[in-house]
Order: sequence, then structure tokens, then C-alpha cells
Amino acid sequence: MLAIFQNARPETAIVLGSGLGSVAEAFGIEAEISYAEVPGLSASTVPGHAGRFVLGNHDGKPILLAQGRRHLYEGLTAHEVTASIRFMHELGVKRVVLTNAAGAIHESFHVGGLMLITDHLNLQGTTPLLGGPHFHDMSEVYGLSLREKLLAAASSLGLTLHQGVYAALLGPQYETPAEIRMLRTLGADAVGMSTVPEAIQARALGMEVAGLSMLTNWAAGLKSQTLHHAEVVEVGQAASHDLARLLKAAL
Ligand code: HPA
Repeated sequence: MLAIFQNARPETAIVLGSGLGSVAEAFGIEAEISYAEVPGLSASTVPGHAGRFVLGNHDGKPILLAQGRRHLYEGLTAHEVTASIRFMHELGVKRVVLTNAAGAIHESFHVGGLMLITDHLNLQGTTPLLGGPHFHDMSEVYGLSLREKLLAAASSLGLTLHQGVYAALLGPQYETPAEIRMLRTLGADAVGMSTVPEAIQARALGMEVAGLSMLTNWAAGLKSQTLHHAEVVEVGQAASHDLARLLKAAL
């Protein structure tokens, strides 16, 4: 099965976050392989994360979809969490779209909407580049040309695409209201627990990177609510259709 993926040589990959796995169906599923079957990878332990690669097809070209990801909060190192990105690179992937579920911080955003990541705050205290290679430039992690394609696609579909800074925290607990006030002061527009290690690893390998956050909830303390993973997955699933349309139009 691995050979089918190796022979296909996909140049584009999409990582699907919590509740967003069904986006893969929009690209047609030609082959699939579980992370457990890929040397160096292992299955996700998080509900809502299937843990497999799917080979799809977009306009006659192969596209690789990762349904579910590994997280630092599962007790893994940043190097382990980003094994999927190095696997993509080995397959020949040149551009990767990283999607996630995130809490909305910026008051003009809406729950169920999408945010194009313009930049990030790495507040996870670690990086996949520990031990080297050192001193990679991170002044444009989320490349302008892919961002422009996504914005143009959103506008042609009449879809609102917010833009902003994604702050990555370690988790696995959600934030306190005080932490959200701190993040807002620091310039964060959305908050989550993933994506940043993958973005750093992909850039270090010379891949083009885009990031999209599905805003599944208001961040803690912004509305009277408590946060539940099941709701995050549910809102993600409900809004996956928009994400699939956007990706198909942009890529
Ligand atoms: N905080 C952190 N991660 C998240 C959130 C949140 O509010 N929603 C979805 N993932």
C-alpha cells in the first residue's frame, strides 16, 4: 500500500484537523493507509482524528490528505509530531495546507467561520528543529502566494475568510479567561494546540505552507460558555463543507 503513495508523487498535501477529516471525501478516496503502517508514524489517540493518509485526486493530479494529526499534548516530542511532514517531503510534496480547529479571539470573527493564518505565535515551548538545523528564517512561514490563492477562491465563492495570527499552546486543557486576555494582548486572533510544529518543519524542508483555522468556538471567557471537545468536533464537521469548497477552488 505504501508503494501506491510513493509512486503517485503528490505535490500537494492537506492536513485535516479535529472534525475536519471528512474534507478528504471531496477529493475522492483512491487509496488509504493508516499512520500505524507508515514507518516512523503512529496512530492518533484523539477522538475526531482518524489517523490515516488518503490519496485523492484533484483535477487529474494526485493529492495527499492526512486525516488527523499527532499533538504535543499526547506526550510526544515536536520531532515525533512532525514525522508526517517529513514523510510528505519524502513523497515529493512541495506545498502543504495545514488545517485545524481553533478558538476565536478577534471580536469581528464568527464561530463556524474560517481564518486564514497570516502568522503564528509559538507558545508551545518547543520546536521540531531542536538539535538543528539552526536559525531558519521564519519571516514568512505562511507564503503570500498561497494566501492570495485562498483569498481569491474565498471571494469567488462568496465565503468569508477572516485573516489573523494563530497562537499555539501546549494544551491539552483549554485556556483560562486570563490566558485568553494575555493572548489578545500578544496579538493573537485565534488559539489552538497544533499546526505550528508542522509549519516550522515544513518551512525548514523548503515546503510552501498555508494554514486555515476552523473557528469552532469563542475562546474561553469571551462568552458565557464552557468548552467541550465534542462540540469542537461537531462545529468542525458542520463547517467542513465550506472548507472543502475553498480548498478545491484554491488549489
Ligand atoms: N482553545 C484551544 N484549542 C482549541 C480551541 C480553543 O478554544 N478550540 C478548538 N481547539
